[in-house]
Amino acid sequence: MQIVHTIKDLQLALSLIRQAKQAIALVPTMGNLHPGHLQLVTTAQQHADTVVVSLFVNPTQFGANEDLDKYPRTLQADIEKLEAVHTDILFAPNIADIYPHGSEHSTHVHVPGLTDILCGASRPGHFDGVTTIVAKLFNMTRADVALFGEKDFQQLAVIRRMVDDLNIPINIVSVPIVREPSGLAMSSRNGYLSAQQRQLAAAIHPILLTTQQALIDGFSDIDSLRDNAAKSLNDKGFRVDYVHILQRDHLKPATKKDKELVMLIAAYLGSTRLIDNITISLP
Ligand code: PAF
Repeated sequence: MQIVHTIKDLQLALSLIRQAKQAIALVPTMGNLHPGHLQLVTTAQQHADTVVVSLFVNPTQFGANEDLDKYPRTLQADIEKLEAVHTDILFAPNIADIYPHGSEHSTHVHVPGLTDILCGASRPGHFDGVTTIVAKLFNMTRADVALFGEKDFQQLAVIRRMVDDLNIPINIVSVPIVREPSGLAMSSRNGYLSAQQRQLAAAIHPILLTTQQALIDGFSDIDSLRDNAAKSLNDKGFRVDYVHILQRDHLKPATKKDKELVMLIAAYLGSTRLIDNITISLP
């Protein structure tokens, strides 16, 4: 694996690949890699000749009271994991290269509407940070394809919209959630959970599955399904941020006519915010 730390070195490496007419895939990450990230890499290998993983803890997507400082930086372990899955290039830039005018004073990309709801409502400015860094990474790599996990369902929708709105010539591929044997969706933030909280966190997935099955079985009272799910989470000791059942493609409130839905949960265990979701196709 080639490791590059500057945009200049990245572009030098990629120009040789482009000259050889090879397709390039980008897997953007903030490091602290887990099997979910590695699944993005192995899926990327099916879509392109060369896979670039970016590793950058992007300050602009963290709110003032969020975990930027304590976000785990595990570069050496991440390198070993990426090498084990035969990643071609690791791009691990420093902040001055990415935000040469300072992260607060640079141009931002804002996707209206989709970013005002769900995690966007709870974490103001978060998605502006995400779309800005992702647009920058798309520009730096000029990748043919980029891969994102479905765990961050809203992030995926926001990035797809940005790509459409800005006519960015890149194919966005989504990769299903990778779960621990307990059902807990893999996330870098799971590392903040105590052993007891980790056991408790596994309760989210069965709640998603039960609601999915109820909808498939014809129970169509979305409000009461949502309220029951929120109550179950509260009863188990979560502090619920939101539970929503929405139209899958537009993230708008689902009506009885909609067939393609997504149920999304954000809930805190202690100070750790967990998100998860499930898609639902009604007969
Ligand atoms: O999903 C993430 O890890 C981050 O939001 C991303 C896409 C790497 C941008 O910093």
